[in-house]
Amino acid sequence: MELYIDSANINEIREVAALGIISGVTTNPSLLAREDPKVNVRQRILEIHTLVGGHLSVEVISTDADGMLREADEILAWFPEATIKIPMIAEGLKAVSKLSEQGVDTNVTLIFSPAQALAANNAGATYVSVFVGRLDDISFDGMQVIRDVREIWDIQGLNSLILAASIRHPMHIVECAKAGADIATCPYKPIMQSLKHPLTDSGLASFLADHQKMQAEIKKSSLSTN
Ligand code: G3P
Repeated sequence: MELYIDSANINEIREVAALGIISGVTTNPSLLAREDPKVNVRQRILEIHTLVGGHLSVEVISTDADGMLREADEILAWFPEATIKIPMIAEGLKAVSKLSEQGVDTNVTLIFSPAQALAANNAGATYVSVFVGRLDDISFDGMQVIRDVREIWDIQGLNSLILAASIRHPMHIVECAKAGADIATCPYKPIMQSLKHPLTDSGLASFLADHQKMQAEIKKSSLSTN
């Protein structure tokens, strides 16, 4: 399972990209606004694109297909490898099917059910973004949707990549991998939390302490022989 970072924060993206564990970035209007409500979106997106050369999803804000297609043209003029992120609404599907005919990658976002994922796939979506955490927030089993989508995809031989979004903690990442998501897009915090284990820290501390003890012994015996 690939990992993307779900962020518009340059420092977070830079730090995680340097680890070599992510192959893309997903953004949305809320993430961009959270960084700076007056952010120059084009500039920020191109900055992110320079930092992480792989996948970059950029979301449209129109709610009609023509507006979405106009925005997609603008974004593709910024950089032609952009993935156009489109909401899971009827007008969105119209835009996705047009973009798919033109060979443009799309990421259908705000998917909360297998039926929505199926419709997005059939419209030609490259990625279907299933929001796990927001389902958990309202007492639904978000991970079950990932499992159901995977099962349907395998039975039917469908092509859209299953992108697990709205990830809240490291166990979501593990469960997404077990459920067969192709990608999990995660905020900075769960990515960094997933690297940690107390036994790693205590094990490293004792390796270093033993090494230091050994160095001290070597120094002591070289002093006594001189
Ligand atoms: O990028 C979309 C998605 O990951 C949003 O997550 O935490 O706002 O539910 P969240």
